[in-house]
Amino acid sequence: MADLEAFFHEDSFPETCTESENKAKEFVKYHEDTGIPVALVTSGGTKVPLEGNTVRYIDNFSIGTRGAVSAEFFLQHGYAVIFLYRCRSLEPFTRHLQNLHLLDILEVNSNEHDRNSSVVVKSDYCPQVLNVLKTYQDVKKKRQLLMLEFNTLGEYLYLLKACSIALSPLGNRALLYLAAAVSDFYIPKDKMPEHKIQSSDGPLQLSLEVVPKMLTPLVMEWVPNAFVISFKLETDPSLLISKSKQALDRYHHQVVIGNLLDTRKREVVSVTKDQENWIRLTDKELSLGVEIESKIVSEIVQKHRTFCSHD
Ligand code: PMT
Repeated sequence: MADLEAFFHEDSFPETCTESENKAKEFVKYHEDTGIPVALVTSGGTKVPLEGNTVRYIDNFSIGTRGAVSAEFFLQHGYAVIFLYRCRSLEPFTRHLQNLHLLDILEVNSNEHDRNSSVVVKSDYCPQVLNVLKTYQDVKKKRQLLMLEFNTLGEYLYLLKACSIALSPLGNRALLYLAAAVSDFYIPKDKMPEHKIQSSDGPLQLSLEVVPKMLTPLVMEWVPNAFVISFKLETDPSLLISKSKQALDRYHHQVVIGNLLDTRKREVVSVTKDQENWIRLTDKELSLGVEIESKIVSEIVQKHRTFCSHD
């Protein structure tokens, strides 16, 4: 744990992190009274800066689909959701409008003599926008969704810790669904050049240090009674199950969802201490646009209910 404390001390966090921390505390406080379960869904990849005044960085692969889609399904299952996501990765609800160019779907509603012109959505796009807007507004009215952004690995880890601690008073009603793609390597502040690395200095050699695994303090200290799901991303199929089981043995949490980079949109494996369950989409479901997250979240919600009933 010593490693971890050093990590938090050496990074300086922007003011937005403390603002987000306060928002998370308020959100959880509100839902202590509503009695509904609260899920922390993490999403997107973390950015690891190579320079103090950052021009270049290393990024982890993630578009944010898994997190954004899953957040919508948790909301549908009646959960309140803290969505901790990489800035500019996919977001719940707006992702459905991602293919639309904002300025192309709007028009000005006015006539020559009217000084109070307004902007409206063109009629062709109304059904699509209205559908998303209604669901979003309903969720907002119930204060069911809190969106918090991160950019760098340091910000992600700071907010993961802050949100976990904020959730701890909820006990087993809290669920953590850690779908973000988190870097395992970073450059400590004292070993990072302040200014842009110059190509005139010749080939670049990097030495990265290992990021301490957050799952250990998360499960043991920050939010010990919560239901925790981690994700395991591999590219070699022969490692997927063994690595997922290893994570469960090491961190003692409840579920690992294993997925392979190439097939992650149509199959995943849910691993618990006594079973492995493949969750798949059929060709028909794929062609109908069914999203695998609907099945993953249904299974997780079921398991969370059982977990709460045993406590
Ligand atoms: O966003 P998409 O494009 O839809 O892709 C989704 C996804 C493939 C990114 C997602 O499904 C996924 O697998 N996310 C986890 C990726 C990942 O970080 O895997 P990992 O094997 O490196 O880490 C395993 C677990 O350890 C993760 O839950 C992570 O939160 C945790 N971890 C990682 C690093 C670290 N320092 N501390 C941690 O606790």
